[in-house]
Amino acid sequence: MKKILIATEKPFAPVAVEGIKKVFADAGYEVVLLEKYTDKADLLNAVAQVDGMIIRSDQVTDEVVAAAQKLKIVVRAGAGYDNIDLAACTQKDVVAMNTPGQNSNAVAELAFGMMLYNARKAFNGASGVELRDKKIGIHAYGNVGKYVATIAKGFGMTVYAHDPFVKNEEIEKDGVIPVGSVEELYATCKYISLHIPANDKTKKSINYDLLKTMPKGGTLVNTARKEVIDEDGLMKVMEERADFCYLSDLAPDCKDALIEKYADRVVFTAKKMGAQTSEANINAGLAAAKQIVDFFEKGDTTFKVNK
Ligand code: 3PG
Repeated sequence: MKKILIATEKPFAPVAVEGIKKVFADAGYEVVLLEKYTDKADLLNAVAQVDGMIIRSDQVTDEVVAAAQKLKIVVRAGAGYDNIDLAACTQKDVVAMNTPGQNSNAVAELAFGMMLYNARKAFNGASGVELRDKKIGIHAYGNVGKYVATIAKGFGMTVYAHDPFVKNEEIEKDGVIPVGSVEELYATCKYISLHIPANDKTKKSINYDLLKTMPKGGTLVNTARKEVIDEDGLMKVMEERADFCYLSDLAPDCKDALIEKYADRVVFTAKKMGAQTSEANINAGLAAAKQIVDFFEKGDTTFKVNK
């Protein structure tokens, strides 16, 4: 009997866990649930004898892969897989997958939640500003970026996007204005919504030179990854520009300093929660479970992300 570990430091909604369990029960697989763990040793112990694993932002390091004696597949229930050591997986013949698109709407909705909260002065009763007629730039036009565009149009915003991997026609057909360079996107848009992955090319790429060009009231919205921000550059812009705002679902290292100095210009969630909705948990969790069953029963490697 195949044994599958669901290792989620940040648990799925109970309804999603029930759904995942049913997919595996129907396939005749056993499920091991490890939630809210605080000690890496618990993960190392839990992974030792399982054939497959579902994770979220949980760290699948080379140590975790080495501890997994029977592991054949790990599925990240979500989009970004920067938390998985892909080389370690490949070396041990472990297939790594993600579930692209399944939690994207939740992330896009949170971006607007933070934008509204900031635009309306943290709902404190003071006069704020509206999103309508403002320019928003979507940095990377993937699954989340597309949902952001749809919602932004609903708010009456003018929507721009930059993505070197997406053809202009595909962006234009959504009523979005394609922009040829990152520099132009930032210099044009009051709001920037970030959706780039964290990798060697993007880490610290959102820097002072880019941010300082944003128009008056420049507001950077980060529901992507903490690592893509050059925090020294961000601090410098916040210091130099009393109009600049930073809204993030990912706590930066300089979070405390930002709150202390610029409390009315930053918004942070208590814990990364862009994908933390029942719907996103069900979509991503069930997709992950089905991908594991299809892998073992049919050899299906669609959504494999390691070579
Ligand atoms: C993703 O890459 O899918 C999102 O960042 C969501 O991450 P989470 O599953 O840890 O909430």
